[in-house]
Amino acid sequence: MSKTISFHLQKGGIGKTTISGTLACQSALEGHTTLLIDVDPQGNASSWFCKSELKWELADVLQGFCFFTDAIVEITKVPNLFLLPTFGIGGSLKKYAETKIADEPYVLQDLVHELVTSFDRIILDLSPGLGKLERSALIASDEIITPMTPEVFSLDGLEIFIDELEKIRKNLRSSVRHEKIIINSFDGRIRQHKEIYEAAMSGSFEVFKIPVDPAFRKSQERNIAPQLFKYRGRGLKPNTLRAIEKINDKIWR
Ligand SMILES: Nc1ncnc2c1ncn2[C@@H]1O[C@H](COP(=O)(O)OP(=O)(O)O)[C@@H](O)[C@H]1O
Ligand SMILES: [Mg+2]
Repeated sequence: MSKTISFHLQKGGIGKTTISGTLACQSALEGHTTLLIDVDPQGNASSWFCKSELKWELADVLQGFCFFTDAIVEITKVPNLFLLPTFGIGGSLKKYAETKIADEPYVLQDLVHELVTSFDRIILDLSPGLGKLERSALIASDEIITPMTPEVFSLDGLEIFIDELEKIRKNLRSSVRHEKIIINSFDGRIRQHKEIYEAAMSGSFEVFKIPVDPAFRKSQERNIAPQLFKYRGRGLKPNTLRAIEKINDKIWR
């Protein structure tokens, strides 16, 4: 059965795009037909994986200007990986989110329902915040997994997110699951990181860690999957790769 996941917390710069893109690659590299949908008007996931100019984007599909088959592109360097892009520059998702989505909160859910017949696994990369666009993406998902960086304010951010998600579930009649946390950019040598990890573990969430690893940023600069990135013989650290494999093993069940 197909499954759709969003990696979300309302904060920016915590690794939502990095984790969405990396796990989409991992799933695809392990042989599953995987679609990454760029639901961020800044289009970071799209510029990471696609350098060429494209004709259609997500906002065009949502407005019925083209079919999803027109807009989805194959990421040739990663077998089984597909992207439904958003153009950061010159794109129209921001305008669509500001003007139209209020009347159509289920538009992404309807699209995902159509897509699950073609893709085993779907990942949505969201913009920071909890506006109408993010809400419509969250309720289009089967599961939301929260990435957070090991900082004091992150736990507050998680509390706020849990409260807001409860309201979204009620108002939009959604039963989306929220049971897992990923502590991103973790460094076990830093006491505060360990304390935040332990605080997260003491709650009811299943908690994963992704180490701090500069190869993520470098792979984004070179428009390549982190797993395939190598520079002077070096790519992702072995413990980063193990963490990604472990998370990928657990989240699609
Ligand atoms: N585990 C990590 N180790 C090192 N750098 C990371 C890690 N995760 C993300 N980054 C970097 O942090 C920055 C912000 O990440 P990004 O995924 O764009 O966050 P968001 O989508 O939440 O705004 C990027 O430059 C990215 O390469
Ligand atoms: Mg992002």
